[in-house]
Amino acid sequence: MTADPRPRIAVLISGRGTNLQSIIDAVAAGRLAATIAVVVSNRGDAAGLDRARAAGIDTLVLNPREYADRDTYDRAIAHELTVRGVRLVCLAGFMRLVGRPLLDAFPNRVLNIHPSLLPSFRGLDAQRQALEHGARVSGATVHLVTSDLDDGPIVAQAAVPVLDDDTVETLAARILVEEHRIYPEAIARLLERRWSLQGRRVVFDAFT
Ligand code: GRF
Repeated sequence: MTADPRPRIAVLISGRGTNLQSIIDAVAAGRLAATIAVVVSNRGDAAGLDRARAAGIDTLVLNPREYADRDTYDRAIAHELTVRGVRLVCLAGFMRLVGRPLLDAFPNRVLNIHPSLLPSFRGLDAQRQALEHGARVSGATVHLVTSDLDDGPIVAQAAVPVLDDDTVETLAARILVEEHRIYPEAIARLLERRWSLQGRRVVFDAFT
């Protein structure tokens, strides 16, 4: 048997895992040439774990309380991903700040999806922030993760309108549709194309 030549990715979750599902679906449909080597959760009750199991993907629950401190925890994650030959780490609703040990193990290879057009509305409740601010447009951003919250170089974005009768829920649902579209696309692009960082800009090589 020949080894699967597709690049190996990991998805880190904390909750319901709809973005994880969009990645699973993209792999199954052949839109994303990758293998999901493992799904890691910091919570044993994350519903996304069931999505992974249903797709036959290896899962791992790492409870931060069982580690001495943040760095030790991040080192443990980095170790689990490294031994599985992971090339790209995709945060998908992973509700923890990622620290240096993990970022250093995967330099410019940790991605996140955020439900706003960054750099607007960083942090928690981005959809509520956009609504309460009175923004007319919001959206979703896929970005490289740095040690600053929701601040890394932008890989992909999609905009949606904010409507007069929106609630946080209706706006979040409209943004989520775009999240599910652009996250697998962005992962595929990063894996398939050659790219580099020019300052904060992610620049794809035109000939790849
Ligand atoms: C998404 O809105 C994502 O942008 C944010 O957390 C949420 C995760 O949702 N980082 P899900 O677990 O992927 O359904």
